[in-house]
Amino acid sequence: MSSLTEKMSSKRILVLHGPNLNLLGAREPEIYGKTTLSDINEMLKKRATELGVDEIEIRQSNSEGEIIESIQKARGRYDFILLNAGAFTHYSIAIRDAIAAVPVPVIEIHLSNIYKREEFRHKSVIAPVVLGQISGFGATGYIAALEIAVRKLERDAE
Ligand code: DQA
Repeated sequence: MSSLTEKMSSKRILVLHGPNLNLLGAREPEIYGKTTLSDINEMLKKRATELGVDEIEIRQSNSEGEIIESIQKARGRYDFILLNAGAFTHYSIAIRDAIAAVPVPVIEIHLSNIYKREEFRHKSVIAPVVLGQISGFGATGYIAALEIAVRKLERDAE
């Protein structure tokens, strides 16, 4: 490929964990398992290194406003967002609007299968504005999302 046609494949990933995910491991283990958030983060960092990711930034916030700001500031700074918005998934039009406003692709993640649970969890207001959703595979879902993001970035740069 000539230097004129060669595209840069930048792989900068932002992982956002929403409310109550800091309690993973202790929180309703029959639903969310015993894996802690720091276990998930370590798994993500290890896999990111193996996949040649340039940068992986991981944040957890219980605040809707902080999540919105992270999404807004991702413009031009990150190439992909992996988002578990926790309960905000089901009602935060403001997070949905932030995702729609920013040209950074988002993969929506849920540890549990939200469609198998209470009816109020069946609706995701962010689903129509994300690239896709992974729900029900526990911590593995985050790794799958990372792999999908990297593959997509590499393909798009070809
Ligand atoms: C969750 C599912 C949400 O319904 C819930 O409010 C969470 C976690 C999940 O990862 O399964 O906090 O997003």
